[in-house]
Amino acid sequence: MLLTASSAILMILQQAPADNVDWDAEFGVEEEVRDPVTGELPVDPYVEDNANAGADPYDSTSLAAAFGGREGIQRIAERTVEISEADQRIAEIFVAHDMVRLKRTLGEQFCYLLNAGCSYSGRDMRSAHDGMGVTRADLNALVENLQQAMREADVPFAAQNKLLAKLAPMSGDVVER
Ligand code: HEM
Repeated sequence: MLLTASSAILMILQQAPADNVDWDAEFGVEEEVRDPVTGELPVDPYVEDNANAGADPYDSTSLAAAFGGREGIQRIAERTVEISEADQRIAEIFVAHDMVRLKRTLGEQFCYLLNAGCSYSGRDMRSAHDGMGVTRADLNALVENLQQAMREADVPFAAQNKLLAKLAPMSGDVVER
């Protein structure tokens, strides 16, 4: 009996995989390599177009100043992503995605919509959020985080609402449940 039990343990030990197994290689998973210049992961090809930003930009050239210009806008986009990554309500949605790219493309989208002199090079809102399972509650959380980022940057309330007004109609392309 004792012998049987110890041989069973031995068998289990023998079957335990080595610590250094490269499971990606074993299963043929291709390793994604970050671009050495941009630090971003590759994405499937798509057609770049400002129309992907989801709305037309404001005509006003003075609105951007309320956000601290192009740099201020980029900082607000980055801060929104950072707050969201640390927000337990929605953090999990961001884990498997490229935050280097998101910070850049979200900044471009805001900059384009606020007529601060950028083109938007990212995907359209439906493709970008396809299959992510974003809920209305997730969207509300993200909007709160954007509001916090704008408050921290002392963006006047009226200007904050201008950006939110451009983004609000996009919710239909983002929310899936
Ligand atoms: C109206 C609301 C929203 C707008 C305007 C927006 C905007 C964007 C933009 C511009 C991108 C980049 C697309 C690209 O790089 O090609 C993006 C991607 C992404 N968004 Fe949103 N977003 C919204 C809502 C949300 C919400 C509510 C969540 C989750 C809580 C979310 C999570 C993500 C994630 C994880 C990505 C990265 C996708 C990837 O790289 O595969 N977004 N979003």
